[in-house]
Amino acid sequence: NGGSSESRGALIVLEGLDRSGKSSQSMRLLSFLEGLGHSTELWRFPDRTTSIGQMISSYLSNESQLDDYTTHLLFSANRWEKRSLMEKKLKSGTTLIVDRYSYSGIAFSSAKGLDFEWCKAPEIGLLAPDLVFYLDIPPEKAAERGGYGGERYEKLEFQRKVGKSYHALRDASWKIVDALLPMEDIAKQMQEIAINCVLECQKGKRLSHLWS
Ligand code: TMP
Ligand code: MG
Repeated sequence: NGGSSESRGALIVLEGLDRSGKSSQSMRLLSFLEGLGHSTELWRFPDRTTSIGQMISSYLSNESQLDDYTTHLLFSANRWEKRSLMEKKLKSGTTLIVDRYSYSGIAFSSAKGLDFEWCKAPEIGLLAPDLVFYLDIPPEKAAERGGYGGERYEKLEFQRKVGKSYHALRDASWKIVDALLPMEDIAKQMQEIAINCVLECQKGKRLSHLWS
């Protein structure tokens, strides 16, 4: 199980539009893996608890204005400031379920019109996920779910652009999950894929870096 000092934890990322169900499914996956006895933590980006995270949070809630390029670099810096802790946790055998990661950074900033390659560059060298789930939902359906909290990016027109950016980012390794299925079905699909990933990492799959 997760405790062996020989084996590392898995880096599992959830991506998707706002209101695609990432947060609920992250919590379900956390209880599932914990229930099997694996040491597991739930992380999220932006991590609003740091001082960089607070700048991001006040930008998102429209309390402050920031240049788009600067915003992009702050989101990236918010991942860099957690990088060494992330590596330490993984190497000590803890699996991390991460609600949004570098892909959100690129999808949201490039949806504003920033150059795609420029957006990717500051993510180079961060730890590469072992598994990426994409909760796939048409932007119109996500908007119908309500609960857009009024944050800066929570607007249908913008989410449509983000959806297109995510599409350009996807690769064959991503696990695309139909976010319109019942919650329970989504959870089951994800559990099966996640447990295999956790076991592979335990057996010695190497940690790698973006972009690999
Ligand atoms: P949250 O709703 O998951 O807390 O994320 C807040 C918003 O920030 C969400 O609309 C996605 C956006 N975002 C970026 O623009 N860049 C990033 O790097 C991340 C992690 C999130
Ligand atoms: Mg949100």
